[in-house]
Amino acid sequence: MVDLLSEQFRREPFAAYAMLREKSPLFHEAQTGLWMIFDYDGVKRVLTEWETFSSRHGPVDWLVFMDPPRQAKLRALISKAFTPKSVANLEPRIQGLSRSLLDPLMSRTEMDLAEEYSIRLPMMVIAELLGIPTEDLPKFVEWSNAILNMSYTVGARDGWQEALNVFTAATSEMDAYLAGVLQENAKQPRDNLLTRLAAAQMDGERLTHQDILAFFQALLVAGQETTTNLINNAILCFLESPEALARVRSDLSLLPGAIEETLRYRSPLQWMYRKATRDVELHGQTIRSGQLVLAMIGSANRDSKQFERADEFDITREPNPHIAFGNGIHFCLGAPLARLEARIALTDLLTRFKALELAIVGAWEPRRALQVHGPTRLPIRFTT
Ligand code: HEM
Repeated sequence: MVDLLSEQFRREPFAAYAMLREKSPLFHEAQTGLWMIFDYDGVKRVLTEWETFSSRHGPVDWLVFMDPPRQAKLRALISKAFTPKSVANLEPRIQGLSRSLLDPLMSRTEMDLAEEYSIRLPMMVIAELLGIPTEDLPKFVEWSNAILNMSYTVGARDGWQEALNVFTAATSEMDAYLAGVLQENAKQPRDNLLTRLAAAQMDGERLTHQDILAFFQALLVAGQETTTNLINNAILCFLESPEALARVRSDLSLLPGAIEETLRYRSPLQWMYRKATRDVELHGQTIRSGQLVLAMIGSANRDSKQFERADEFDITREPNPHIAFGNGIHFCLGAPLARLEARIALTDLLTRFKALELAIVGAWEPRRALQVHGPTRLPIRFTT
C-alpha cells in the first residue's frame, strides 16, 4: 500500500501520511512484518516509552541504539564533554568555514548547493569539533563515507554485506588513528571534544577507548547527513514559499523560527526504529513482543490534530512543538549544534546570494539514506 522506498514517496510523502493518519494511524505492513505509527501522540509515545519500545536493534553499539541504564550513563558522561557552551564557542570557527566555502562561489551564477556547500560544511564542522587536523581530512572523508554507506544500505535490498566489510576495515583504521590522537592529546593537551571525552568522569567512571570510538563513529553519521538536509530543506522550503523567503531576507531575526518550521515541515529524519519488548496495545491493535515499529517523525510533524494549518510552511508558528530531534531520553544531543550551523549557513546564503531559484527541471532526486528526507543535488541559480 505504501512503498517507503519509492522515489515519489520519499520526495513528497505528506499526502500519503495524511491519508494513513486518517485511516490507520497504526499500520501493519504484512510483507515485512513492520509496524508504522503515523500520528503525533502515537509517535511521541513510541519514541519516549523506552521500557516498552527498545532502541536495541541496530547493527552497531552506538548511544542511539542503547537502552538505559547503559545509555543513561554514557549519555551523562558524553554530555559533560559535549556541552552547549562548547558548541556556542564554535560559532566564529563555523562562520570562517562557511565563508571559505562560499568565497570561491561568488563569481559564479550557478552551483549545486548540496555538493558544494551543504554536504561539506557539516563534515568540516564535525572534524573541527573532534580536533581532526586539516591534513587528516581526506582520511576522515573516507571513513565518513564508509559509515554513511552502511547507513544507506541498512534495510536496502542489496549492497549491505559489502558495505559492512568496508565499514569493518574502516573501523580498525579509525581505532588505530584514535589511539594515536588520544596519546598525542594526553602528551600535549588541546581543547577539543576528544580530549574532553577522554577526561570526562562521573562517579569515578570514565569513557573507555571503545566508547569513544563508538561515539566518534556515531557523530560522523548523526552530525553530517541530518544537518546537510536541514540546510538544503530550508532552501527548498524558501523556494517553494517566496513570501517566507522575502520576509526572512528583510528581517533575519525570523530565521530561527524558519529553521524550526523547516525541521517540522520537511523533517530531515523521517523515522526512527524501535523494537517492542512486550505485547503492547496501541490504537486498538496489538504489537507483539520483538516486532519492529517505525515511529514516523515526518508524519507526526504534519498531524493536523497537533498543528493548525499543518501543511502550511509558517515561519512564525508559535508554539512549534515539532519532534524532528526526537523526544525523551534519546533527544538529539547535537540539536544546539545543528541549529547553530543552520543559522550561520542560512544567514550567509541569504545575505550573499540574491534572486535565488532552482536550476533543475522536474523533480529532485531523494538522498540515498532511506530514513533521510532531502535532495541528493540542489542546483540553484543566483545573482550576487
Ligand atoms: C538537523 C539535524 C539533526 C536532526 C534532525 C537530528 C535528529 C535526531 C533524532 C530524531 C534523534 C533521536 C533518535 C531516537 O530517538 O532514536 C537524534 C539523536 C542523536 N543525535 Fe541528532 N540530529 C541532528 C543533528 C545532530 C548533530 C549535529 C549531532 C552531533 C554532532 C547529533 C547527534 C546525535 C546523537 C549523539 C544522538 C543520540 C542521543 C541518544 O541516543 O541519547 N545530531 N538526533
